[in-house]
Amino acid sequence: MKILIIGKGGREHALAWKLSQNPRIEQIYIAEGNAGCELLAKVKNIPLNQIDELLDFAKQHQINLTIVGSEELLVQGIVDKFQACDLKIFGPNQHAAQLEGSKVFAKDFMNKYGINTAKHQSFSDYAAALKYLEQINYPIVIKASGLAAGKGVVIAQNRDEAEVALADMLLEQVFGASGCEVVIEEFLVGVEASILAFTDCNVILPLISAKDHKKIGEGETGLNTGGMGVIAPNPYVTDLVQQQFMQEILAPTLAGIQAEQMDFAGVIFFGVMITQNGIYLLEYNMRLGDPETQAVLPLLESDLLTLFEASIEKRLEKVELSWHSGATCCVVLASGGYPEEYVNNLPIHGIKEFNQTDCQLFTAGIALQEQQFVTAGGRVLNIVAKGNTPLEARNKAYAAIQDIQFKGCYCRKDIGKVN
Ligand code: AMP
Ligand code: GLY
Repeated sequence: MKILIIGKGGREHALAWKLSQNPRIEQIYIAEGNAGCELLAKVKNIPLNQIDELLDFAKQHQINLTIVGSEELLVQGIVDKFQACDLKIFGPNQHAAQLEGSKVFAKDFMNKYGINTAKHQSFSDYAAALKYLEQINYPIVIKASGLAAGKGVVIAQNRDEAEVALADMLLEQVFGASGCEVVIEEFLVGVEASILAFTDCNVILPLISAKDHKKIGEGETGLNTGGMGVIAPNPYVTDLVQQQFMQEILAPTLAGIQAEQMDFAGVIFFGVMITQNGIYLLEYNMRLGDPETQAVLPLLESDLLTLFEASIEKRLEKVELSWHSGATCCVVLASGGYPEEYVNNLPIHGIKEFNQTDCQLFTAGIALQEQQFVTAGGRVLNIVAKGNTPLEARNKAYAAIQDIQFKGCYCRKDIGKVN
């Protein structure tokens, strides 16, 4: 079998690592991938990122299954285009992808299907949004409705900050068309969890929960990032929380996608907030999370190809997942300065030699220059360790980091630390 994975980060490397364990797969192409992915025997990167190019490639190379990692092409309708050519592809169609591509659409969906979410109002008119600011309490959350690579959310502590955020989005259009409509919503206090679930639109099958660490600084301080590390399972997702999640969020989401006839095979990523008043859905992402995938897949004992195939063939009902016991801790090694300015092309030492028991190294922002791996992005590498307990996983991950060196390497020291 030949597989095409679309994306270029640690998530796609982790997908290729897990899939390559299946002997039925002879070749995995990653578009565009990153230099470290090709350390896996069956993997080849291809430098394509446009839907039409990818479609041609899939036809020419007789790809049996395409898996879309990142969101942009999903929102542009890659799934519909592949399906129109009878090519098997895993991911939401353009209609369903709006649950991630438009926060206004997602909030309307949540309200329509009785899914608990922060109270909100949507605006595209600046004057109307300003007027609304008169009647609310602070802090408040302002979100660009469209895709903004995780940067489109502002937590405004007071009215001045809210006005600046609204002007940036609605007048200055700092997020382009993505910010032409905004959601203003109630600020929730609690602990976040990421839960990924496979669906074939008949059933929805959640994976083990995860806890992302989104801020650059320890103790959740400083700027938002794409994610600085993860532990799985999420220690705050108790059996009770999981049960509430299944009843109050998962089940009505499935009912909603069925009622709206969003027929697809894909992953829904639920970003939730566990509060003293219950569990709230913050957002849907319609794909696997990065770096959640890197922490969750090493715990999955079941074969991943079978899971993708069962989703596409609407056989998920028959799938029972098995999991390794214990926990994983994924620590992201980033370029100094990230998420603001940083320099690329710094030599990285230790990648090829990396060999730690119960540890995986997934590469993200790296390139190969004259046989030397160099930095090529903000989030450079992910180290994922498995342990019998979260503490053991954490200790192993931080010990393994010593084997990798590059100038300015930054990581948070508190990934997986539970207060
Ligand atoms: P989102 O893209 O909607 O998940 O928002 C990005 C991040 O902003 C979340 O992971 C939270 O940390 C924070 N956030 C979003 N909505 C809220 C909210 N209503 N209350 C508190 N924090 C929020
Ligand atoms: N870790 C958050 C995301 O994948 O969007």
